[in-house]
Amino acid sequence: MNDDIAKVLYHESTILSRLDELAHLITEDYSDKEFTVISILNGSFIFMADLLRRIQLPLQVDCWSVSSYHGAKSSGSINFRQHEVADVSGRHVLLLDDILDSGLTLSTIKSKLMNEKNAKSVKSWVLLCKNITRKAEVEADYVGFKIDNEFVVGYGLDYNQQYRNLSYIGVLKEELYKK
Ligand code: IMP
Ligand code: MG
Repeated sequence: MNDDIAKVLYHESTILSRLDELAHLITEDYSDKEFTVISILNGSFIFMADLLRRIQLPLQVDCWSVSSYHGAKSSGSINFRQHEVADVSGRHVLLLDDILDSGLTLSTIKSKLMNEKNAKSVKSWVLLCKNITRKAEVEADYVGFKIDNEFVVGYGLDYNQQYRNLSYIGVLKEELYKK
């Protein structure tokens, strides 16, 4: 697996220090709010456990299974693999996603939660944010790291469901997906 990585961007220790900082911010921002964390699967499953254990507040958690990528390209549409989520009516929601790229995933989920599920507020947290022009007008409220427009894997992020179990985040060698 390591041989497929062109360069390491963030080692586990760097990621965990950043999670400490962001968990502290969330703990301050949500101290007087009833909130539900909704984690977008599959990409969020690694950092979700690391982040949530650092938040010193009562909270509810649910996961939403969604897909949009085929290989290293966005399919341009969001596929909800699961239709039911927690009842968030009247509650504050904090969405967790691995990476903000075109913005389609976050904007689709945000509007669904606000308009169909009647959430009181929806904020979003992403581990990575790509520095590109988005297809959908959405930005994250909390960002782990801003990155260039490169295809990255590890610490939850995949290429065709592989590499999620790398302990660090790295850039995938181009020859592996550009054929
Ligand atoms: P968006 O809807 O285009 O913002 O893309 C969000 C989803 O695309 C993420 O949750 C990832 O699953 C996937 N994605 C986007 N860029 C990357 C990348 O560089 N590596 C791995 N997955 C990515
Ligand atoms: Mg993915």
